[in-house]
Amino acid sequence: MNKSTRKTVIAGNWKMNMTPSAAKAFITELAPMVAGKDGCDIVLCVPFVDIAPAVEAAKGTNIKIGAENVHFAKSGAYTGEISADMLNEVGAEYVVIGHSERRQYFGETNETVNKRVLAALAGGLKVILCVGELLGEREQGITEEIVSLQTKIALQGVTAEQLKNVIIAYEPVWAIGTGKTATPEQADEVCGIIRGVIAKLYGAEASEAFTIQYGGSMNAKNAAELLSKVNVDGGLIGGASLKTADFTTIVNAAQ
Ligand code: PGA
Repeated sequence: MNKSTRKTVIAGNWKMNMTPSAAKAFITELAPMVAGKDGCDIVLCVPFVDIAPAVEAAKGTNIKIGAENVHFAKSGAYTGEISADMLNEVGAEYVVIGHSERRQYFGETNETVNKRVLAALAGGLKVILCVGELLGEREQGITEEIVSLQTKIALQGVTAEQLKNVIIAYEPVWAIGTGKTATPEQADEVCGIIRGVIAKLYGAEASEAFTIQYGGSMNAKNAAELLSKVNVDGGLIGGASLKTADFTTIVNAAQ
């Protein structure tokens, strides 16, 4: 297992935070703090209306901008939805798909996650695919089954070539926004299980090159230890991505 063959990606997930003017101010402040930190890719996934100002503010910096969701249709009568083409044109490079909050509160299923993944890839976006077990599922001992199933269904129809534009974020639902982080060992174990699924589906070489993040209360204090694990290739960060100093500390931990 050689971590150096993989890209480390530190991605913020702002969720429903930051107005467009706040987004601009945040990125203007962050940019000099993370300038030249080339040991990882730096991404901010932001609310739809923040994308254009964020892209503008991030021009000429090493910060990439992503969305937090995408609809699976190319266009049509889907009131309130946003397509991959729209995201692409406004300058989003990444999109988060299948976040547990979408699954919990907005009826997202493994099947709709799969449709979104296919649409995003067809539309030229890079996908941050979220998988993770509920607390009850972990207690029942079915974490491996749950994340394997989520991974397999989400990737149905994704070609080996397209897989190069996918990364997975392992986010145990019980650790998201709770301040309860998975131990580095737990994070490493499940990221390793996911890597095993990728190996089965796409082969050993593809799985060795595949980026798998950990997410769930990753912060300035615990990032270095989590990121030191062999199967953890980055982080998807909620709360701590809303403060430039904390986010910078996590980026530094990934160098
Ligand atoms: P958190 O969120 O870092 O606030 O736990 C992570 C996420 O939901 O991606």
